[in-house]
Amino acid sequence: MNVRHLYVHLPFCAHRCGYCDFVTAVGRTEQHGAYVDALLAELELERGVLADELETVFLGGGTPTFTEAGALARLLGGLPRAEEVTVEANPETVTAELARLLRAGGVNRVSLGAQSFRPRLLSVLERRARPDDVRRAVHTLRDAGFDNISLDLLYGIPGQSASDLEHDLSDALTLEPEHLSCYELEAKPGTRFTHAHGAELLRQSEAMEGYYERVVDTLTAAGYRWYETANFCLEPERPVAAGRDLRARHNLAYWRGRDYLGIGVGAVSTVAGVRRRNLPRLAAYIDAVLGGKRPPSESEAIDGATSSRERLLLGLRLDEPVRLDDVQGALDRGAAARLVAGGLVELVDGELGQNVSLTRRGRFLAGGVAAELMALTAP
Ligand SMILES: C[S@@+](CC[C@H](N)C(=O)[O-])C[C@H]1O[C@@H](n2cnc3c(N)ncnc32)[C@H](O)[C@@H]1O
Ligand code: SF4
Repeated sequence: MNVRHLYVHLPFCAHRCGYCDFVTAVGRTEQHGAYVDALLAELELERGVLADELETVFLGGGTPTFTEAGALARLLGGLPRAEEVTVEANPETVTAELARLLRAGGVNRVSLGAQSFRPRLLSVLERRARPDDVRRAVHTLRDAGFDNISLDLLYGIPGQSASDLEHDLSDALTLEPEHLSCYELEAKPGTRFTHAHGAELLRQSEAMEGYYERVVDTLTAAGYRWYETANFCLEPERPVAAGRDLRARHNLAYWRGRDYLGIGVGAVSTVAGVRRRNLPRLAAYIDAVLGGKRPPSESEAIDGATSSRERLLLGLRLDEPVRLDDVQGALDRGAAARLVAGGLVELVDGELGQNVSLTRRGRFLAGGVAAELMALTAP
């Protein structure tokens, strides 16, 4: 096997933000060392599926940069090298020492969870970082030599106005990040957060389309490529980009349907037609792996039809065309013709056969358009 993309999950956080639905564990500093031992042991168990040279490694969380410094350094030292090594960081955890530790460990891209620059909205989200922490984090990373920084922003936050969003975008742009991810806030029904902000979340959901257009218009006008539904990178000709393709290579691999190995509690892998998810139970994960066994997990086979549908759904998120040959059987030709006539989809002949892509208007309605394109092929 020849898997070239590795995801490493670090679940620990200083506290749990109300809106978060990721696999996390609060505090547990005393467990960080054992968890890193388990990660390195799981990597050893799975080493056979990895290629000799990796393209990308992504350390996600949780808050990878909250992991105890000695354990984090040991982890970075034990991971395979790769062309792109990304770490997710919370702004308040970024110090000069941490930045040096990351650099020394081979990290060359940092994804900072800014979320907003409005103190009132950060409080609603129960974030620890203040706007100045985000700015300080970016400067600290720059001083340490990082030349590939991504900022995450959220919109649709309870209490947010269109003008708040405009200010957030302009505050983010002032920092000249190479990359930006702008996500619509998703609030799970039944959570404490949804209960606390129900009516306001409903109001926000009605404003989402307008927010999304504002995000795309502002960032593209500022010289960013809207290369994926929620992701933007500086165009290569901008001075800061210096000719580089700054798309997130790790996430590109997911969207292009490449195989990837995920290690850690709750991590997902897709290798040779099988999707496996480690169960989200921390103690069971550590015990199993340190006992020399694979962690408890659930698996499903991804058959050809499912794989084609996923390729179409994920591929249409990108600003590059999807080859029809790669999504055989997943595309409903009748729906495609209707959507072409409606100006939402384009079918274009390419060198390697016909391609399908979304028009600009189609991209704003991407989820619905993709679902319609596949409507008649669902099992
Ligand atoms: C896996 S989280 C971890 C990053 C880091 N711990 C932090 O909070 O900044 C990565 C990103 O997912 C996004 N995210 C988290 N919860 C979300 C939600 N409920 N809806 C939309 N985006 C969310 C945030 O922008 C966050 O920066
Ligand atoms: S810090 Fe990030 S991963 Fe941790 S709870 Fe908050 S949003 Fe979730």
